[in-house]
Amino acid sequence: CGIVGYTGFQDAYEVVINGLRRLEYRGYDSAGIVLENDNSVFSVSKTKGKVDDLVAISGNLAGTAHIGMGHTRWATHGVPSDRNSHPHLSNNEKIALVHNGIIENYDTLKIMLTEKGFTFQSETDTEVLVNLIQYIMDINEEMDFPTAVRYALNEVFGAYAITVMHEDFPGVLVVARLGSPLAIGLGNNEYFIASDASPFVEFTKEAVYLEEGHMATISLENGVDIRNIKDNVKITPEVQQLKLSLEQIEKGGYEHFMLKEIFEQPKSIHDTLRGRLLVEEGIIKMAGIWDNLERLNQAQKITIIACGTSWHAGLIGEYLIEEFARIPVEVEYASEFRYRNPIISEKDIVIAISQSGETADTMAAIKMAKERGAFVYGICNVVDSSISRVTDAGSYTHAGPEIGVASTKAFTAQLTVLSLIALKLGKHNGHLSNQEFMRLITELDTIPQKVQEVLETTHEITKEIAKNFVDAQNFLYLGRGYNFPAALEGALKLKEISYIHAEGYPAAEMKHGPIALIDENMPIVIIAPKKGHYDKIVSNVQEIKARKGKVIAVVNKGDTQVASVADYVIEFPETSECFSPIIASVPLQLLAYYIAVYRGANVDQPRNLAKSVTVE
Ligand code: G6P
Repeated sequence: CGIVGYTGFQDAYEVVINGLRRLEYRGYDSAGIVLENDNSVFSVSKTKGKVDDLVAISGNLAGTAHIGMGHTRWATHGVPSDRNSHPHLSNNEKIALVHNGIIENYDTLKIMLTEKGFTFQSETDTEVLVNLIQYIMDINEEMDFPTAVRYALNEVFGAYAITVMHEDFPGVLVVARLGSPLAIGLGNNEYFIASDASPFVEFTKEAVYLEEGHMATISLENGVDIRNIKDNVKITPEVQQLKLSLEQIEKGGYEHFMLKEIFEQPKSIHDTLRGRLLVEEGIIKMAGIWDNLERLNQAQKITIIACGTSWHAGLIGEYLIEEFARIPVEVEYASEFRYRNPIISEKDIVIAISQSGETADTMAAIKMAKERGAFVYGICNVVDSSISRVTDAGSYTHAGPEIGVASTKAFTAQLTVLSLIALKLGKHNGHLSNQEFMRLITELDTIPQKVQEVLETTHEITKEIAKNFVDAQNFLYLGRGYNFPAALEGALKLKEISYIHAEGYPAAEMKHGPIALIDENMPIVIIAPKKGHYDKIVSNVQEIKARKGKVIAVVNKGDTQVASVADYVIEFPETSECFSPIIASVPLQLLAYYIAVYRGANVDQPRNLAKSVTVE
């Protein structure tokens, strides 16, 4: 979910609504706003649907207030509906609250409050929290509002970022964080609150990221007062200078963020390599790796933890690190890792990969690994994100803000960082000869250019091919070696944005199951670069054609063998096998994008998904 709050001299409606639009990638099944006018009276408007739906019913609130807050929701407790949308009001209608996260003990609290006579309009855990605050104030008449919020938070378990307002305490916003991110923008006579800095970058470059377990009381009169939720100890905020620009988070002429981000990849990969890959000097410079080289190279085992697309990047990371650094690697879904009893010791390295740096399961898995003494290395895209701050060391992907829910440029940037890490470790522990190292880094340096080329040569072709598959019910994606995870990722992209069922498989496994599905209606995308078990893949293609499957072959430029039997051919420039997923993924992203566009799907905000999943 996304939270925006504002107090200052501007029209709070405008600031909150525009901010919510920037945060819609965090969830968009309902949206709401509460404003407090100059007579300290609340107006609430909320609805199931997107920010546009909210605007349609709340336009009359424009220009009525200078303080307020809003929410865009990704449902956890309770279906998306008007009633379950935030903000939620307390029974006395004096307290309004927006919440991102989950209150785990909400049912016990709900029973207690119900016994005290409270009633509930929604199925949400949030409404329980807002009423708990009212209850605390009811029984402690003298208590001020921020203290009541603090007391209430000490009663709840779970993960949250909240913003609360009280009609009897005009001009005050109380915010708190445990597990879900919250940034406070410091303007000139105005303050902003948001789940990330994007809603306020155009107004101020100064921000404070609220730390875990901290809360802040914000008002024009008294500024920002930060306290520890547990013991009320005052905290001196650390003010950060934001580097994000407005241009970076706008669409820049593209129809969707996803398309913009696909096309940004030559630049984002270049940015990932910048200052790190120094081909002429024959070195890879990465402070995070360099500073911990000994520890990393002594690792008995590396465990990569991640979710979604980042997990796919992790699978390719396994191939890279095992091939070049010869350290055993396991790749796990963070959500599985954290709930079993994995064998992790002080000698182990855990690499956590996360675009957002906020994914709740990945965060929890990191905490567990740290408790067991492992050294945790983070690969995050969002600078200063929660994960980047809890890890022992790390490398940013530097892909720039990714807004489209389906990850594209963050994925290729993750692969780029993993390539750098594997090559650097291999070079230093002696498993990679200098000659081989030089050959590989010279090749890696050409990847941005090759991605540019594949964009130019495949954009129109993928668009044309996509037209033939608008009504497809299923898709199979096949690849071998490094391109097996690329097949998984290709299938995920299609699934996420077009809602066509798609599965990725190692090509050789096809005969152990998926082959049963193949008939003239089954499209099969097969990634078959020249370097990478090519002959074996040629046989797989023959097996598919013998069963009349429709083959979309993603092959190297000038390929004749696979191309001659395939129904559709997408060509990409040749590279070393280990880097081929970076290039081959690009036309797969375009294919998924165009199929989804032709199906009329909302590409940037696919149903039920969210960009940053801060719940378990
Ligand atoms: C969500 C997003 C995916 C993403 C996954 C992991 O499910 O929709 O695109 O891959 O979370 O996110 P992270 O930010 O940790 O990489």
